[in-house]
Amino acid sequence: MPTPDRDWDQTYRDPQSPPWDTRRPSTQLRLLLESGSVKPCRALDLGCGTGTNVIFLAQQGFSATGVDLSGVAIQRAREKARAAAVSVNFVCASVLALPDFGVPFAFVFDCGCFHTLAKDQRRTFVEQVLGVTRPGSIFLLLCGNAKEPLDPGPPTVSEEEIRATFSRDFDIEWIREFRLDTVNLPKTPLGYATLMRRRLP
Ligand SMILES: C[S@@+](CC[C@H](N)C(=O)[O-])C[C@H]1O[C@@H](n2cnc3c(N)ncnc32)[C@H](O)[C@@H]1O
Repeated sequence: MPTPDRDWDQTYRDPQSPPWDTRRPSTQLRLLLESGSVKPCRALDLGCGTGTNVIFLAQQGFSATGVDLSGVAIQRAREKARAAAVSVNFVCASVLALPDFGVPFAFVFDCGCFHTLAKDQRRTFVEQVLGVTRPGSIFLLLCGNAKEPLDPGPPTVSEEEIRATFSRDFDIEWIREFRLDTVNLPKTPLGYATLMRRRLP
C-alpha cells in the first residue's frame, strides 16, 4: 500500500504500470461530466500522475492544470499531452505547498492523492485547496474505502474521516461507493467518490 514517504518517481520508473495508471479517464469523472453538473471551466487535478484525467479534462474544453510531486510522472504527462495535441499546464509541486495560480479554479479533481497523505497532513491539504479555489468551486474526491481494505490495494479513508476533514469548508453533496479503475491488481478496490462544493462565506 502506498505511504506518505513513498518514492513516487521510483514507482513511475517501474516497467509495470502502477495499479491506478489505467490510461483511461476515470469512470467517476466521466460520469460527473456526462451528468452536466460541471461545465468546462478552470480545473485542477491534484496528484495528476501521468496526466490521463487532466488531459481528458482539456479535451472536454476545460482550462486544465495538473500538479504532481513526481517529476517522472509530470514528464510523462507532458509527453502524453503533446502527443494528444492538447494544452495542459503541468506543475511539479506538492499538494501541501501549491504555487500561486492566480485565478481560482472552479473545479478540482483528486483521484488517489489525498488518500496517500498522512492523517496529520489532511488539514494542510484542505487549506491548500481553499487557497486555489473560490466559494462555489466543486471538488470531486476519489479515495480508497476503509470498509474494504485490500493488500495489495490503495490506502483507505472512512466516510467519517471524509466528513470530518472537509465539512467545515465544503457542503458535501454526496458520498458514493464505487469500484476504483485499476490494472495489475488481483481484486478491484472499493472506493468513495465524494462530490463537494466550497461553502459560500
Ligand atoms: C495513486 S496515484 C494517482 C495518480 C493519478 N491521479 C491517477 O489517477 O492516475 C497518487 C499520485 O499522487 C502523487 N502525490 C503523492 N503525494 C503528493 C503530494 N504531496 N503532492 C503532489 N502529488 C502527490 C503521486 O506522485 C501519484 O502520482
